[in-house]
Amino acid sequence: MSFVERLRAERDLPDEELKTLLETDRFDEELHKTADEVRQSVYGKAVYLRGLIEFTNYCKNDCYYCGIRKSNKAERYRLTKRQILDCCAQGYALGYKTFVLQGGEDPFFTDDVLCDVIAAIRSLYSDCAITLSIGERSEESYRLFFESGANRFLLRHETADENHYSVLHPAVMSLSNRKQCLFNLKEIGYQVGTGFMVGSPYQTTRNIISDLRFMQSLSPDMIGIGPFIPAKGTPFESFPNGSVELTLRLISVLRLMFPHALIPATTALGTLHPQGRELGLKAGANVVMPNLSPVEYRGKYSIYNNKICTGEESAQCKDCLKRRIESAGYEISDSVGNVKRETVK
Ligand code: 5AD
Ligand code: FES
Repeated sequence: MSFVERLRAERDLPDEELKTLLETDRFDEELHKTADEVRQSVYGKAVYLRGLIEFTNYCKNDCYYCGIRKSNKAERYRLTKRQILDCCAQGYALGYKTFVLQGGEDPFFTDDVLCDVIAAIRSLYSDCAITLSIGERSEESYRLFFESGANRFLLRHETADENHYSVLHPAVMSLSNRKQCLFNLKEIGYQVGTGFMVGSPYQTTRNIISDLRFMQSLSPDMIGIGPFIPAKGTPFESFPNGSVELTLRLISVLRLMFPHALIPATTALGTLHPQGRELGLKAGANVVMPNLSPVEYRGKYSIYNNKICTGEESAQCKDCLKRRIESAGYEISDSVGNVKRETVK
């Protein structure tokens, strides 16, 4: 059996074989084809849309890679509850069944303020999923958000290697806390997503293998990866882009290791390659995350340079994505798109 066939059958390979697989393009064709078969066997041709609402670009953290880090000069904004609900209304009219509230770690949004917004969305859209992507909080806060109606949470671990983590983040942030947050979220009952950047500064193949091993221990429902893209004004502004090719290879590896995962073809992938998201879908991804933020704020949510979809109205993004998804041979699903977990017999 080839590496790829074994990865499919076992959902795993020893470190050394993963290393070989990740460091050559020799298997790419077989990898993408096999990953697409596995994706189709679980999710068919369905692609799930998640409307992304970037509701604040204030952040108390200072991650070295991120364009909205505290120390970066950036025009800051926060959406009001009314504005967030307007985004949801637009998204619902476009057929979206998931709203992703994404923001920096902004202390203005206390538990009370956020719970109020979440509860309002929940009462208006009982048939929709509410996903939070708001960083690290206490277990108690996560519980309150869940009780208010949020049911999914995205928190990329960024890198599962302690040393690499300390190269990407100031010393006040810790990998152990981040991992603890992910396990807390799972325990509470959220569908949990994690992930990392591909080609972040100083990342090695060994680091990526640690990421895969960490994800095996977490069993995430969603896995988001995208290429690193330098952000102006940050300590890493002069580092090169991550590789599109390696990102696609990893999407396929993830699909084979985690057949049931919801895996987005990310905006970062679309930023580095004009057909990045289509290629992501063909490599095994089954989610796209159209932007629902008000157009006047989109340019300000600049976590990296040249981010796409900052000039389009939400409806234009929907049309554009529909074309892209269909041209890749898939179809938009109108279901809420919950994870299909394996039922253990
Ligand atoms: N390039 C690519 N992705 C980035 N992120 C943050 N900064 C960058 C960058 N410069 C990713 C992080 C974060 C997610 C919201 O965006 O992985 O978790
Ligand atoms: Fe936003 Fe194409 S997806 S313009």
